[in-house]
Amino acid sequence: MTKPRLWITRRLSDATLERAARDYDTVINHEDTPGSADALIAASAEFDAIIPCHSEHFSADVAAQLDTRLKIIANHSVGVDHCDLPALAARGITVTNTPDVLSDATAELAMLLMLGAARHAVAGDRIVRTGAWDFWSPSFMVGKQVTGSRLGIIGMGRVGRAFAAKARGFDMKIHYYNRSPLPEGIAAGATYHDTVESLLSVADFLSLHCPATPQTTNLMNAERFALLPKGAVMVNSARGALVDEAALLEALASGQIAAAGLDCFQVEPGGNPAFAAHENIFMLPHIGSATTRTRDAMGFRALDNLDAFFAGQTPRDKL
Ligand code: DGY
Repeated sequence: MTKPRLWITRRLSDATLERAARDYDTVINHEDTPGSADALIAASAEFDAIIPCHSEHFSADVAAQLDTRLKIIANHSVGVDHCDLPALAARGITVTNTPDVLSDATAELAMLLMLGAARHAVAGDRIVRTGAWDFWSPSFMVGKQVTGSRLGIIGMGRVGRAFAAKARGFDMKIHYYNRSPLPEGIAAGATYHDTVESLLSVADFLSLHCPATPQTTNLMNAERFALLPKGAVMVNSARGALVDEAALLEALASGQIAAAGLDCFQVEPGGNPAFAAHENIFMLPHIGSATTRTRDAMGFRALDNLDAFFAGQTPRDKL
């Protein structure tokens, strides 16, 4: 039987690529460069399936130009803001993502960002690393204590809940905003807020875990930063579009925000050059799910979705 033709746009884990090559007529972009709109459109005439990452943008314009050969886009990501889902649905293309498997890795990274931002990780590392550490005082590099503090989580989906579970290990008092309250067994004592504004008023630490949609673009803007307790710490391991970066810089300059931990930026790759001057911004380059175990799990989940699709079943993660 002829194997479906599969294009893998980026260098996925070795185990994923081996399994893909075994089961599909697979072409891999070994150069590991993001697929341009033209490349996606051209590939749609040659392949039955694509496994892209969030670096490949299936806009409405691209979707309109895809060849009818392409039947499924099995994303290697949980976030799908790079895909215009209605436009792809209108073309009859199945789209899947990889939920669940990256929640712990991303929550771990959010914890790293929160701790690093709260305890001057950037400046501390710099002065030791450069040999500039020639002074110590009890008032030196005093940070904000995480243990026992109030944590506000926006978006209590899988990653938000995994982050809350880890934060409970620091005895944090968990508050959350979500479209609807979680059943008590799942909320595990976390306090529900039915507006973002209400949540912000108690968030000594704030962590963003909601998807990027037109409704959540610039969710954290100047008005909302002003609602946080003074000296709050904000963490974003979800999507850069959630934060108005100019407003964040102003909130940091005024001391309204003490520090921020960011794995996501409005412009990626690259980030915001204006952030570089601020050592109270602890930054990482969108690597929330980048662990060996999770990369394998994401790749296998994408392939499970493809296998189901080509077996005539509905993929588990069909959107
Ligand atoms: C995701 O899965 O959405 C991560 O951000 C990596 O793309």
